[in-house]
Amino acid sequence: MNNKMIQRHIKPAIFIHWFNAACWLLLLVTGLGLIKNPALTPVGMWWPNTLQNLVGGGELLFIHVTIGIIWIVGYLVFILMNPKEHLFKYTREILTVSPVRDLLWLFKKMVILTLGEQMLKRFGMDSQLPEQGFYNFGQKFFAVPATFGGVVIAVTGIIMTLSKFMYVNTALVQWSILIHFVVVGLVFAGLLIHIYMAALLKEERPAFFSMFTGMIPESFVKHHNKLWYEEQMELKR
Ligand code: HEM
Repeated sequence: MNNKMIQRHIKPAIFIHWFNAACWLLLLVTGLGLIKNPALTPVGMWWPNTLQNLVGGGELLFIHVTIGIIWIVGYLVFILMNPKEHLFKYTREILTVSPVRDLLWLFKKMVILTLGEQMLKRFGMDSQLPEQGFYNFGQKFFAVPATFGGVVIAVTGIIMTLSKFMYVNTALVQWSILIHFVVVGLVFAGLLIHIYMAALLKEERPAFFSMFTGMIPESFVKHHNKLWYEEQMELKR
């Protein structure tokens, strides 16, 4: 058995991922506390009531906005540290899709996870998954809305905040409220699957640990991220 470890994530990428996760958690907790309409809150009114009794409505908004600003500034610093790697390479990676290969990967993976490998045989297919790059198609399927959704959430958040201090077109503010709310909900739905796949699936454990140590077994990427592995080997030659 080959136990050799190779580098998958660099330290700044690991830091920004967990910084992002922490900011998301705090923004969700405080954001849910800001909802005043009982028909719109997914957790019931007990949460907004508890938080607002604890810190006060105005203060809760201040805390939410402050975390949002820390989140945006953190990302801007990360991108400016190395725009080529942290913005352009990453964006190209998550947007590079080979439709036939990747849709087949997604179909087979979903069948294996839900109905089992045997079912693939009924469809006349083997259980061999098409080769994948640095991220598999499932990860890209979440990374794209999470990344671009994050930008939309940040921009609409800034518009809403500015409207508290200066005149901003009323229609723009109302659209921002709606879009902010809807996009957070959509990314959150994807996030539940992301966390399940990344943290709970035993098969994906080496990728989970790599998000802490940066290192991953060579045997794992040879199998799960073959195209990226071959690219790395080519670069070393
Ligand atoms: C407990 C929470 C979380 C866990 C356990 C987790 C786990 C992981 C792991 C293990 C990877 C690396 C996959 C690989 O290398 O193959 C990853 C990547 C990623 N995660 Fe998470 N994640 C969490 C929260 C979040 C949140 C809140 C977001 C954003 C809304 C997010 C967005 C991403 C994105 C965009 C990637 C791909 C880009 C990157 O490598 O940073 N994750 N996650």
